[in-house]
Amino acid sequence: MLLLRTVRAVHRPLPMPCRLSVVSRFYSSPANAYEITETETRVNGQSIPRDAQTNVSPTVLSRMNRNLHLQPQHPISIIRQLIESHFTGFKTFNDLSPIVSTRQNFDDLLIPLDHPSRSRSDNYYFNESTLLRAHTSAHQHDGMRSGHERFLITGDVYRRDEIDASHYPVFHQMEGFAYFDQATVAKQVKEEMTHKDAPNVRVVDDTTFSDENPVQQCHTQDMVEPVAAHLKHSLNAMLRKLFADEPDLEVRWIQAYFPFTSPSYEVEIKYKGEWLEVLGCGVVRQELLNQAGLHDKIGWAFGLGLERLAMVLFGIPDIRLFWSQDERFLSQFTPGHIQKFKAFSKYPPCIKDISFWLPENKWQENNFCEVVRDVAGDIVENVKLIDDFVHPKTQKRSLCYRILYRSMDRNVTHEEINAIQDRVRDVVEKEFAVTLR
Ligand code: DAH
Repeated sequence: MLLLRTVRAVHRPLPMPCRLSVVSRFYSSPANAYEITETETRVNGQSIPRDAQTNVSPTVLSRMNRNLHLQPQHPISIIRQLIESHFTGFKTFNDLSPIVSTRQNFDDLLIPLDHPSRSRSDNYYFNESTLLRAHTSAHQHDGMRSGHERFLITGDVYRRDEIDASHYPVFHQMEGFAYFDQATVAKQVKEEMTHKDAPNVRVVDDTTFSDENPVQQCHTQDMVEPVAAHLKHSLNAMLRKLFADEPDLEVRWIQAYFPFTSPSYEVEIKYKGEWLEVLGCGVVRQELLNQAGLHDKIGWAFGLGLERLAMVLFGIPDIRLFWSQDERFLSQFTPGHIQKFKAFSKYPPCIKDISFWLPENKWQENNFCEVVRDVAGDIVENVKLIDDFVHPKTQKRSLCYRILYRSMDRNVTHEEINAIQDRVRDVVEKEFAVTLR
């Protein structure tokens, strides 16, 4: 269900001897300061008690407050501004705190208690009732109650994930929301929809209302048709505008499922021969509007991933570049303009393997990646499983991971990487009770 996914030139790895043995550590980076004690996490002036559910890590806490979406020259911010200028009349919220409750992130959105998207291995929990938002949809309820009929919410979102060129545990989403009077929606939408053709963008949409993607029982088809048409029109027009300079863009609408919308859709764009999902959207479940006291309204919502769009539009090959402080990156961009990124030379990599016997057969790769990232920071470009075998006699399972270290901003020395790798080995051994080989 859940999709999409600054400071100075050098990003040094964070000091992190072992998460379990940390009694009290104070971390500070130019953008952010936070403290982790045995009993609480202190960040942004809040003290949040820790419990058995706690799994926020120094790496993600150090990314809070970087606010890439607010730096005028940053590609994420440039796209945000271009989209905001397309959605005229929408109230914008760009500085809502990423620390949210499980009610906001899940319950308000009708996400069932046993839904996998709530799992500890996918999220960063401060404790059992507080987490770093996993999507900007966490603010839909507050947006509806703000008194604005149309709004956009942009912010950083957090998900535990693997490490590679297109996955990073922090990324940015924009949420869009609009509602109408149920009684007059058809007329209102007709007045607003002015069709503009753009030959460079081909939109394929064969979605229909169906049993798998139904109109909600409390709605009539006459209400939902104009809302869905307005949603599709608004998003297609936005994509046409963003991709105005692309010679030939293919966009397709497919049916989807989200607990908070019905009917639901996803929009994909064709990029380098592959369909890339860029947003989810749909007609808002009436329970959500009712909870906010908007019983006689009907609405649509969307959530889009800004990094995905930015990677395509600016031709940015690696998601880590968004976090780079290298002048050669940021100086390339100008507010209000989409221009192709010109690659600058990469620094050489340093590759290290780590192999170990597991104490039992269960293994959570996300948690392993997380530990590697916590110890080594952004210097980790890639973590890949290269060997997985079970000993025929002992039935013990052995894994080997290859870690590629490379800085975005500077040359790394062998001594430095050896020291980091030693720390990775130490922490992995303690945290997962593995036997190193
Ligand atoms: N929150 C969803 C996600 O992160 C995206 C999304 C889907 C947002 C549908 C919406 C929506 O507002 O209506 O995967």
